[in-house]
Amino acid sequence: MKLFIPADSAAVSIGANETAAAFAHQSALADAEIVRTGSRGFYWLEPMVEIEREGRRIGFGPIEADDVPELARLLAGDEYQSHPRCVGDIDQLLRDQGQRRFTFARCGVIEPTDWTAFVAHGGSAGLRAALDNSGQAIVDAVKESGLRGRGGAGFPTGIKWQTVHDTAGATKYVVCNADEGDSGTYADRMLMEGDPFTLFEGMAIAGVAVGAEHGLIYLRSEYPDAERVLRRALDVARAEGMLGDDVLGSGKAFDIELRIGAGAYICGEETSLLESLEGKRGLVRFKPPLPAVQGFMGKPTIINNVITLASVPAIMAQGAPNYHDLGINKSRGTLTIQLCGNVARPGLYEMPFGVTLDHMINELGGGSATGRPVRTAQVGGPLGAYVPAEHFDTPLAYEEFAEKKAMIGHGGVVVFDDTVDMLQQARFAMEFCDLESCGKCTPCRVGSVRAQEVIDRIIAEDEREANIELLRELCDTMINGSLCAHGGMAPFPVLSALNHFSEDFGVREDAAA
Ligand code: NAI
Ligand code: SF4
Repeated sequence: MKLFIPADSAAVSIGANETAAAFAHQSALADAEIVRTGSRGFYWLEPMVEIEREGRRIGFGPIEADDVPELARLLAGDEYQSHPRCVGDIDQLLRDQGQRRFTFARCGVIEPTDWTAFVAHGGSAGLRAALDNSGQAIVDAVKESGLRGRGGAGFPTGIKWQTVHDTAGATKYVVCNADEGDSGTYADRMLMEGDPFTLFEGMAIAGVAVGAEHGLIYLRSEYPDAERVLRRALDVARAEGMLGDDVLGSGKAFDIELRIGAGAYICGEETSLLESLEGKRGLVRFKPPLPAVQGFMGKPTIINNVITLASVPAIMAQGAPNYHDLGINKSRGTLTIQLCGNVARPGLYEMPFGVTLDHMINELGGGSATGRPVRTAQVGGPLGAYVPAEHFDTPLAYEEFAEKKAMIGHGGVVVFDDTVDMLQQARFAMEFCDLESCGKCTPCRVGSVRAQEVIDRIIAEDEREANIELLRELCDTMINGSLCAHGGMAPFPVLSALNHFSEDFGVREDAAA
């Protein structure tokens, strides 16, 4: 018998190791093999345990160490379905939720560094398909798929790759942005801890597409478990011929180096990330030149987020139209929605674009964890807008959210109930901007400090109307005058709080802008 228990750091933080250790001591299951996987993303069920029966994976959760003897007894006697925390066939559960697992197809299914299991579950097929094609054909397939950058900006990936492909240069690079700093996001970490070969595969495909032989992963230092998995997986990928001088016997070279950041949020911004990779202080660079033209060490560089790169293997293996068929309008394929905050069923849901927040939060997420009415959700990280409950019917898609002055960013959704104080949330946005500013430009460096002072005066009920006016002016200056998205977007949560929840600012609704 095989038991599957996640070694994902979120599962471990709530007892998955203790659960695994308790199973190892059950004499009734002495012959059982315990496989440590990534997480399926059902965080409300962690620590989750799966068994394989007649080709199906049956899940149980949450299973803490104390619950193990009873479950082991039922498993040994084949009465497992009578366990009160049996959630049934996991593939069926994913289907019932409407999930489409392209990028996370193997996450939670296999031991993350087991090459044989990776290949048996379809791994490396995308790279093999890419190696049979020209660089331009790969770029065309990525364009045809409609894939857009999943780091937040949503720039078309195929167009970025085309720029690097078309820029002359003997040396080019592929850089993976794994500095996942947005609050409420963990998709990159989950993928790296649960299925690192898929990320390497996507990077190798990018390298083959544009003629780059060297890849770098810039990983945030706050992810030590991901670092351990990535290092082990890099060794295996080299030994199995996926990386090195002769990628899968093609005669083409591609290898990956892992670099660790030093804790600065702004190093997730692509140009300060490149500065940091080059050993300098993480200051934002002026654009142009774009990194696609002059990136790492001044050479043409593809720089993409983890999920963007990890989405490419499935596109190459299953065909671009298959991916493009999902989604709505200009948002194609799947979005890895990370539900968290005050929500009953937090976790990662890989859904076709176009699903609504109402469906995600109230149906799949089960509403708030406190049982109180949900008032708002901040979507797209600390620079994202607070979406009020009356806009929860907006389809989760790039342009549709932009129309509502919101963004989907990296897919993080942080839920708040009706006890949230939106004036304090607005202050927090500016405090965050201040703390994480690189300091290069005045609107962000100074504006975020002045904005906190203005908000403090509003909190103190000191000339509220005049200070709200001033806050709006400051936001306008930051949006239009900041060098990068950090200062340019910090006003969005503030303005959304002010526009949708003016009562928390002590303003009559009819007086709000
Ligand atoms: P941007 O709109 O300036 O650029 C998007 C990407 O397209 C960049 O990689 C840029 O170099 C590239 N690009 C633009 N024109 C191009 C062309 N003609 N050819 C090739 N490449 C081209 O956005 P930026 O400043 O890179 O990102 C801002 C976003 O980052 C925000 O929307 C925010 O959601 C997100 N973000 C994500 C975080 C995370 O933890 N994932 C943290 C903070 C912000
Ligand atoms: Fe640096 Fe802020 Fe200016 Fe961006 S907006 S360059 S983080 S000071």
